Amino acid sequence: MKVIQDIQELRHELASYDSIGFVPTMGFLHEGHGSLLEQARRENEIVVLSIFVNPTQFGPNEDLERYPRDEQRDQQLARAAGVDYLFYPTNETMYPLDMARVTVRTGDDVLCGASRPGHFDGVLTVVSKLLNIVHPTRAYFGLKDAQQLALIEGYVADYFVPVEIVRCPIIREEDGLAKSSRNVYLSEQERGQAPRLQQALQEAKHLLETGMPVEEVVERTKDALRLEGTELDYVDAVAYPTLGPVSSDTQTILLAVAVQFQSARLIDNLLYTRGA
Ligand code: PAF
Repeated sequence: MKVIQDIQELRHELASYDSIGFVPTMGFLHEGHGSLLEQARRENEIVVLSIFVNPTQFGPNEDLERYPRDEQRDQQLARAAGVDYLFYPTNETMYPLDMARVTVRTGDDVLCGASRPGHFDGVLTVVSKLLNIVHPTRAYFGLKDAQQLALIEGYVADYFVPVEIVRCPIIREEDGLAKSSRNVYLSEQERGQAPRLQQALQEAKHLLETGMPVEEVVERTKDALRLEGTELDYVDAVAYPTLGPVSSDTQTILLAVAVQFQSARLIDNLLYTRGA
């Protein structure tokens, strides 16, 4: 595995391959990333992983400084996962002038976007830069960040970016908690409460299957997620992948939840296809 910081050097190295699988991350790799890398490995000649904690997607009161980092461990895991190139840019490399950024037009006023203004502008800005640097055949993103994934798909369609965006399933702990770099922040008690997110979503799925109206399912899920010592950020249902309101025509519903624990905000979701 080659570790590269420089854009020209990376472009030179990648010039001769037929297919490039790309997994962009902010590091502190876990099994969720591992499964993206595995799929990228299976489907492409080479795999490129990027690790960059992108400052423009963190709000002023968010955890940029505290975001977990472990360069050595990440490199070991990347090597073990069969990564060919690890792109490890600096802020100066990624934002040389910072004169232009991508702005989201629709779909960032709901779910995580509603309480994190500007977050998805930052995500699309950095993803756009990374896709322009790597020029991958396929780029892999987890459905755990379903809103992010839908917005990236929208960006790629609107800007005619020649890449296939691959949707990858949520990877979970044995008790159902979705894997996340932020899980390390949870206290023992919070770790015990955290699987409730997935349980509440499973209950919601069951209610949707019985034909209960979506609004009622959302209210029931809110009740199920009022956990001691936490603050419920949102429970909401939107059409997927448009992220617009659910209507009688909506085929696939994204039911998403976010709960603020003392030291970490956890998200989880469910994609429910009517009549499937
Ligand atoms: O999902 C993430 O880890 C980040 O939002 C991404 C896509 C790497 C952009 O910084």
